[in-house]
Amino acid sequence: MATKKELIYEGKGKKMWATDDPNLLIAEFKDDLTAFNGVKKAQEAGKGALNNTISTQIFGLLESKGIKTALVEKLSDTEQLVRKCQIVPLEVIVRNVATGSLSKRLGIKEGTNLPFALVEFCYKNDELGDPLINDEHCLILNAVKTEQDIDRIKHMARQINTIMYEFFEQKGLRLVDFKVEFGVDSEGSIILADEISPDSCRFWDIKSGQKLDKDVFRQNLGNVKVAYEEVLRRILS
Ligand code: C5P
Repeated sequence: MATKKELIYEGKGKKMWATDDPNLLIAEFKDDLTAFNGVKKAQEAGKGALNNTISTQIFGLLESKGIKTALVEKLSDTEQLVRKCQIVPLEVIVRNVATGSLSKRLGIKEGTNLPFALVEFCYKNDELGDPLINDEHCLILNAVKTEQDIDRIKHMARQINTIMYEFFEQKGLRLVDFKVEFGVDSEGSIILADEISPDSCRFWDIKSGQKLDKDVFRQNLGNVKVAYEEVLRRILS
């Protein structure tokens, strides 16, 4: 059992703690909600625990389908043990349906089904506002080392999308889009890192169209915790 040591990083949604094992970290899920690059902020008691449980379930599903992830195990309500990896400084976004920044940027009507899953990269940099970049920018910025790494990340992102899309469809939820992050482990393999939760995905109820994700907070659509609880209820159903 790894022992928690010093705080090594605090992000918007999580704190990362060192452990007595140099290869393992503890991720602590926070109750903070942020949107619009930190401009809108709130606290929602219990949100961290919900995201920890939801993300653990989804990573477990993905592992069972052959996706390598950084997750080792859930430790407590708000904590999980993860393998240390070098985070690739990219937000990898996969979209099945147009909405959000895609609709704003390109004028594609909200709710339009895309003809194929669209993979986009944003450069993780708060000062620059996480700008959208292409494959060549990824190489120029040294965000990834080789074109093969880009291909691998795109391939994994699409596999994750296929697995999650089918899973959530069975639960009556449409996986509209999501963001994932990858890391490079000690063996040089690209693995899924960070979290997958309603903070980083869009879920629309297939029957009613109701939004059950962070858009509830972004757009003041109601009680965000109730929405996240509903996502967890569907996952466990
Ligand atoms: O805002 P946008 O339409 O680009 O978001 C696409 C997807 O990526 C959404 O599911 C959103 O929750 C997620 N995302 C995220 N973190 C960001 C930006 C987007 O999790 N910084």
